[in-house]
Amino acid sequence: MHVLVIGTGYVGLVAAAGFAEAGHKVLGIDTDQAKIDKIRKGISPIYEPGLDDLLAKHQASGTLAFSLDIRDGIAQADAAFICVGTPQSEDGSADLQYVLAVAGAIGEAMALRPAGAAPLVVVDKSTVPVGTAARVTAAIAARTDRAFEVVSNPEFLREGCAIDDFLRPDRVVIGCRTDHAEKIMRGLYDPFLQASKGQWLRMDPPSAELTKYAANAMLALRISFINEIAGLCERVGANVEYVKNGIGSDHRIGKYFLNPGPGFGGSCFPKDLQALLKVGRENGRPLRALEATVEANRHQKQVLALKVKSHYGCEAGDPAALAGRRFALWGLAFKAHTDDIREAMSLELIDSLLSLGAEVVVHDFEAMPNVRAKIGDRVAYAEDFLAACDGADALLVATEWPQYASVDLEEAGRRLKEKVMFDGRNLFRPEAMGRAGWTYHSLGRSTAFPV
Ligand code: UDX
Repeated sequence: MHVLVIGTGYVGLVAAAGFAEAGHKVLGIDTDQAKIDKIRKGISPIYEPGLDDLLAKHQASGTLAFSLDIRDGIAQADAAFICVGTPQSEDGSADLQYVLAVAGAIGEAMALRPAGAAPLVVVDKSTVPVGTAARVTAAIAARTDRAFEVVSNPEFLREGCAIDDFLRPDRVVIGCRTDHAEKIMRGLYDPFLQASKGQWLRMDPPSAELTKYAANAMLALRISFINEIAGLCERVGANVEYVKNGIGSDHRIGKYFLNPGPGFGGSCFPKDLQALLKVGRENGRPLRALEATVEANRHQKQVLALKVKSHYGCEAGDPAALAGRRFALWGLAFKAHTDDIREAMSLELIDSLLSLGAEVVVHDFEAMPNVRAKIGDRVAYAEDFLAACDGADALLVATEWPQYASVDLEEAGRRLKEKVMFDGRNLFRPEAMGRAGWTYHSLGRSTAFPV
């Protein structure tokens, strides 16, 4: 099949490479010449494991190409995927200007399709509020009388394992009104569903649009819930790992995606929660559980800074207790296996420490260039994560890169002034840390070691 993918951001690039991998003929479109030049050389503008290889392989074989103009591919296309950004507006809603601009451009270009061609399936893949399929339909219909149908096909991929998520989906959600659109979409996704034995879920477009927001909101809610339980564990002498296993063994709850952390971030959860809250307010159905999730996460993003302050006595009346201290910070990305620092808690942590007069030496395996571009030399950058510890008062862990979990702790301890760690990802076992002489602060397990 012939596929147009419009927008070469995270979702668009992965979808373009993924459909090419399934044997479809794909043309990726972006208006940014510099980006297209880079991608044509096989260099992905984002860090995502495996993406560069797919881009290079399929451009070389001719199944994948990139262009600045949708008119280059509209005549043959069976489906056109809209994958442009939907950033957050000031009022929290999703800004649809890019989606609607693409819809307009598709409408204009429809004249290039042969008369009598099968209806073009236009796919909303960007995360968009309920009602967007109708608005995209109106924007295209205002410019053409050629046949088309707009369907909603939300994307559930996670950064860091995006290729695998795309090629082996748990489910594919399609909001469409006709069997023709379903048949085209099924043809595109069948190779993936056969590999993953994932579910094919056809529904109406508004339900598909809401499914995406509801999925992210439910996941965010789980994380905020376990984070709050972790906080409570610290107060009552319980261990969140036991509680997590205890509740997660109920198949209605499950153990996945239930790890306490230093507050969720990223390009999706914070933005999508705000957009869904706005949809709720506009429709006279406020989503109170989600309002609480946002509030809980705002607090959680301070959790490591609060532990540091309490350890050094800032809260006991000595506001200058951090002045002149140096902290090594491992992990800047909002989670492991990505260079993405959007809404990353590390940035708030850095702000808190700097505002109290501390110095920070940071390390991340992929995200340091992004942090440098954002905050420059307000912090020092260490190319080697052990070197970040040299002469520091304590070590802080904000991202769960697996290399940190397998560090030589003796060596890290030798390089620090004292063996003090604030671990926002529970990478180590409190008992072992205590035995090795560390003062180890983690989430929901114990407040301080050695015991
Ligand atoms: C998310 C959704 O998972 C994905 O389906 C959707 O398409 C886009 O948004 P992503 O933003 O890539 O994906 O990250 P995800 O892996 O979901 O993690 C989000 C945040 O939650 C991260 O900050 C992560 O560290 C945090 N998290 C996740 C936890 O704190 N604990 C967990 O158990 C899982």
